[in-house]
This record gives sequence, structure tokens and C-alpha cells, in this order.
Amino acid sequence: MQKRLAGKTAIVTGASSGIGRAVSVALAKEDAAVVLAARSLEKLKETADMVTKAGGKADVVVTELADENSIKKLVETTNRNFGRLDILVNNAGVTHSAKLEDTKTSDWDRCYYVNARAPFILCREALPLLKKAEAAYIINIASVVGVKGYPLQSAYTASKHALRGMTMSLAEELADSNVRVHLLCPGGVDTDLIKKVRPDIKKDELMQPDEIAELVVYLVTHKGNAVIDELHIRRAASKPWF
Ligand SMILES: NC(=O)c1ccc[n+]([C@@H]2O[C@H](COP(=O)([O-])OP(=O)(O)OC[C@H]3O[C@@H](n4cnc5c(N)ncnc54)[C@H](OP(=O)(O)O)[C@@H]3O)[C@@H](O)[C@H]2O)c1
Repeated sequence: MQKRLAGKTAIVTGASSGIGRAVSVALAKEDAAVVLAARSLEKLKETADMVTKAGGKADVVVTELADENSIKKLVETTNRNFGRLDILVNNAGVTHSAKLEDTKTSDWDRCYYVNARAPFILCREALPLLKKAEAAYIINIASVVGVKGYPLQSAYTASKHALRGMTMSLAEELADSNVRVHLLCPGGVDTDLIKKVRPDIKKDELMQPDEIAELVVYLVTHKGNAVIDELHIRRAASKPWF
């Protein structure tokens, strides 16, 4: 039986680990071709093996998301190799944990460049291709901190609020087009990133990257009139509505 994403192409940023790797494999299980973007070639190759084993096609494009030209190259390579783009997952992210008074401008800039500026540039560069697809999706991965304040994470929190604002504006701009724009706001997921910022959360209480990936697959395969703009996803052990 034909899988739901057969013939479709996706770009996933931050595909070298954590949520991005899980999303890449989940899309591949539905037969998508996945363009894997991040800085670490070795880890991207590991994801590529997993994607191929899951039944999808993988293309590795080493990308520095703080560099506009590198982002442009990612889209150009996708166009050259696949000639289409149906799904863009802006997932890559970096954190910084410190009191605001101890946060350097360079820490703030790093969070902003990777978490907010890169998704903006990638959306802009990818839209001409996405608009050619029958039905296209932009999935931006923000965070619980994208909808509230969070102590010791002002740089990260500000960057995720910026991503959310850009996502909401773009969704309005594209409301009458073939491109749907979604935002995911997860709480603690069991990846390298959470170990750095919330080592206090017990590992068995964290969500699994696969659980976030399942939701991405739902958003890009659901047919019908029901649309979910934004999903807040929390750990079962945390409080409802965060
Ligand atoms: N884990 C959580 O609890 C949690 C909760 C809410 C939201 N999120 C969000 O989920 C997303 C994925 O995070 P994760 O938890 O899966 O973290 P992760 O395992 O640390 O993955 C982060 C990814 O971003 C890539 N990346 C970082 N800087 C980059 C750069 N300058 N250029 C290109 N790629 C870059 C990394 O690849 P390279 O190092 O190879 O470049 C890596 O693949 C992030 O946006 C994060 O904010 C995570």
C-alpha cells in the first residue's frame, strides 16, 4: 500500500539529534524524502542511515543556520536534487541558561540567530518551492517558553517568542494559499538540550522525541477541514496548561 508521504520532500533542520532525528525517521516511515540539515556531518550520516532503513530517501546537507548563505544553499540543494519541497520543519535550536544580568550579548545573539532568524530566512527562501506543491506545510518547533516567561532563560525565551510571532504572522499571510503553518510548543523532551537546561527533571518523566515526531506526522498527513494552528505538549508529570 502506498504510504502517506510517498513522492513528498521534506527539509528538517537539527536533524543530527533529538527531536529532529525522530521527525526525520517518522517522515521517512511514510516514504518521504528527507533533506537532513545541521552542522555535524557524522551525526547527520547516522540519521541518514536511520531514514534509509525506515524506507525513506535521505540527503545530507551540512548547514550552519547562523549563516544566511548556508541556509540559501540548503534550499538550492533541495531544489536541485528533488525539484520540489512539501514540508519544512524548522526544528534546530540552541539554549542558554543564565540570569539575564550574566547573559552576554553573544549568548543572546546565538539564540536569536539559530532559533528565530534562521527559521525566518528558511521560510522566505523555501516559500517559492512550497507554493508550487499541491499541499505544503511549515512546522516550527518553539517551546513552552515561547508562550510564557522562564527564569534563567531570557535569551532562549525571547528567541522562541520571536519565532512564535513570526509563525503567527506568516500563517495569516498564507491563510488563503496551499501552505499551512503550524507551531509546536513542547515541554521537556528527552534530548541533549534538556540535559543542559533542566537536569533536575527525572529522565523517566520526560517526553520522548518520537512522541513529538508523531504529532508532526499527524499535522502533515491529516486531511479534512480541521486545522490545528498551535500545539502545547506537556509532560504527563507537569501541570495542565503548563
Ligand atoms: N528537548 C526539549 O525539552 C525541548 C523542549 C521544547 C522545545 N525544544 C526545541 O526542540 C528543538 C530541537 O531540540 P532538541 O531537544 O532535539 O535538541 P538537540 O538534541 O540539542 O538538537 C538540536 C539540533 O539543532 C542543531 N543546531 C544547533 N545549532 C545549529 C546551527 N548553528 N546550525 C545548524 N544546526 C544547529 C543541532 O545540530 P548540530 O549540533 O549538528 O549543528 C541539533 O541537531 C529546538 O528548537 C528546541 O528549542 C526542545
